[in-house]
Amino acid sequence: MEKWACSSLPIGGVVRLERQRVVVTGFMGSGKSSVAEELARKLGCAFVDLDQTITRLSGHTPAQIITEEGEQKFRELETRQLRNLLATNSAMVVALGGGTWASQINRELIVGSDALTIWLDTPFELCWQRIEASDEIRPLARSREQSQELFNQRRASYSLADIRVSVRASDTVDSLADTITTSINDHRG
Ligand code: S3P
Repeated sequence: MEKWACSSLPIGGVVRLERQRVVVTGFMGSGKSSVAEELARKLGCAFVDLDQTITRLSGHTPAQIITEEGEQKFRELETRQLRNLLATNSAMVVALGGGTWASQINRELIVGSDALTIWLDTPFELCWQRIEASDEIRPLARSREQSQELFNQRRASYSLADIRVSVRASDTVDSLADTITTSINDHRG
């Protein structure tokens, strides 16, 4: 079976663009950015963090935008940047923000771009421990109750991803990226 790797597939031309994007979703603190970055390294693709892209292009972090201009404004920017990103022809692994995949319009953009979607299914307790321990400001996860409610609300949409990867506290970024590469190849098989 042919192994999946971005770098082995020419972009454009005879080979179709399908599956040259891998999109990683999951709740805040699920490990999206670090796992997606390692996955990109293993697959030989570019790594793109959607929140970092938004920060670079707007000059404000998602937390600043949500706090100063409201969540709705942030969601508009998020969808716009996602659309721009997916309109490029680059092979890439994209780490979404925790709420990106929860929006139907964003899911349609991602599915329409023929990306393979990975859900890091990290238990709430582990996400919450990481959220609490992190210096990062997360205005939508200010309390355990608020986070738990959002987590419960979003599970149904996360479960629409192509591949679900169950995450335990003992998993390393490296082992998770390996699990995902195996799952991707099985999925294509
Ligand atoms: C959000 C998650 C954040 C960021 C924004 C909104 C969410 O990203 O996009 O604060 O709605 O869950 P992380 O999942 O990387 O923390």
